[in-house]
Amino acid sequence: MANFFKASPKKSPVQKQITVTVNRLDQQGCGVASVGKKPLFIEGVLPGEVAQVNIYQQNNKYAKGKLVKLQKSSAEREEVKCRHYYQCGGCNLQHLQYPQQITFKQNKVEQLFARQNLAENLPWQQAIISNAWHYRRKARIGVQYNKRGEPVIGFRQRESNNLTAIKSCPVLTQEFTEVFIELRNILPKLSGKNAIGHVEVIAANENALVVRQLTKMSTADRRLWQKFSDKNHWLIFIDDGKQQLQLLNDELLLESHLLSYSLSDSVRIEFSSRDFIQVNHDVNQQMIAQALSWLNLKQDDVVLDLFCGLGNFSLPIAQKVKSVVGVEGVQTMVARATANAEQNALDNCQFFQADLNSGWSEQSWAQKRYSKVLLDPARAGAYEALTQLVKLNINTLLYVSCDPSSLACDAKLLIEYGYKIEKIAIMDMFSQTKHVETMVMFTL
Ligand SMILES: C[S@@+](CC[C@H](N)C(=O)[O-])C[C@H]1O[C@@H](n2cnc3c(N)ncnc32)[C@H](O)[C@@H]1O
Repeated sequence: MANFFKASPKKSPVQKQITVTVNRLDQQGCGVASVGKKPLFIEGVLPGEVAQVNIYQQNNKYAKGKLVKLQKSSAEREEVKCRHYYQCGGCNLQHLQYPQQITFKQNKVEQLFARQNLAENLPWQQAIISNAWHYRRKARIGVQYNKRGEPVIGFRQRESNNLTAIKSCPVLTQEFTEVFIELRNILPKLSGKNAIGHVEVIAANENALVVRQLTKMSTADRRLWQKFSDKNHWLIFIDDGKQQLQLLNDELLLESHLLSYSLSDSVRIEFSSRDFIQVNHDVNQQMIAQALSWLNLKQDDVVLDLFCGLGNFSLPIAQKVKSVVGVEGVQTMVARATANAEQNALDNCQFFQADLNSGWSEQSWAQKRYSKVLLDPARAGAYEALTQLVKLNINTLLYVSCDPSSLACDAKLLIEYGYKIEKIAIMDMFSQTKHVETMVMFTL
């Protein structure tokens, strides 16, 4: 192959320290100032603030700076609660007062809708909010070792794959706020410590830890985990990468040991520690209540629940309507949703496995008539699924989204197909972070 000369990209010399005024927040909640004609991105600062900044990266298009000192601070600034905030990549809005976090999130959705020419007179409803702290009931905690061989346990640092050594985390539910200290005590004692990549914590009817260790665990290590379990009253599951998780202290591989959470309408949802669950229990309950109310469910409704997971929405809906069909990609979750319906004595639900991004013409459930549909896709959104769904001509469509960018694209498609936005609201599932959950009610 011929070789061509390629000039190496021009790098502007990295400046040391400058003082700037912050103009705005970007979509990720990062402060934006200017350096020359370029935007300068600085984490942890707010509009109107004057900051001394160290520029650590710059190219032809933008520069990045680190806050050194605030010379003037915003009236919207909040004292941060977490001592790891400026290193840990888990949260990025703690320095903004909570009501302004909600405004920021609603503005973010509004701006993304504006890019699709959809922002005019959006019918905003009150945001769903809950506890701003100690809300997270499921989280993955990384394990690494430093040069001295000491465990570093925590979440990824900002813009890095390295972990922040965390002592406590104020967004985890109270049961697990201090789990890091307990882990730091046990890990050095384990012969298989280097094989543990991460630990997952889950707060449900029982509190559980899932230890990801791909190699076989020694008897001595199992005993140590057993003591740890007894002391903290946490169930321990071992995830060795195979199909089934092992519940510690059980000679059998226990696929059947399920955790559960209850919804206020006396519905109980069982799940395996590998299944998706909504991480904020209280916001989840409010979100379901709002979905039921916006859908204005009637006894003769036939409802389609797409991306239904374990039946988190399907089962409470089924209590109010003639029948529900749930569709989900993961077969084990379909089986679990079916079992959940049975255990809650709901005989008007059916669940199907399907890849909703593929054609629906062969799907038996897609041949039925529905009066209402709810969809709750993953971050990528539901563009492909919507091109199929619009063929079913369902008048009432409720979209629950965990990513406002894909939601805005999907909303544009629905509007092109004749849907109108009736209601829209954000739901603060992930306080202190940039993540936004949104509910939109569309009608034909
Ligand atoms: C955000 S979760 C919502 C689950 C459920 N509605 C709930 O509230 O717990 C999205 C779900 O969509 C499923 N999913 C993702 N891509 C899919 C696809 N292409 N086809 C079918 N299901 C899919 C995931 O397995 C996951 O259960």
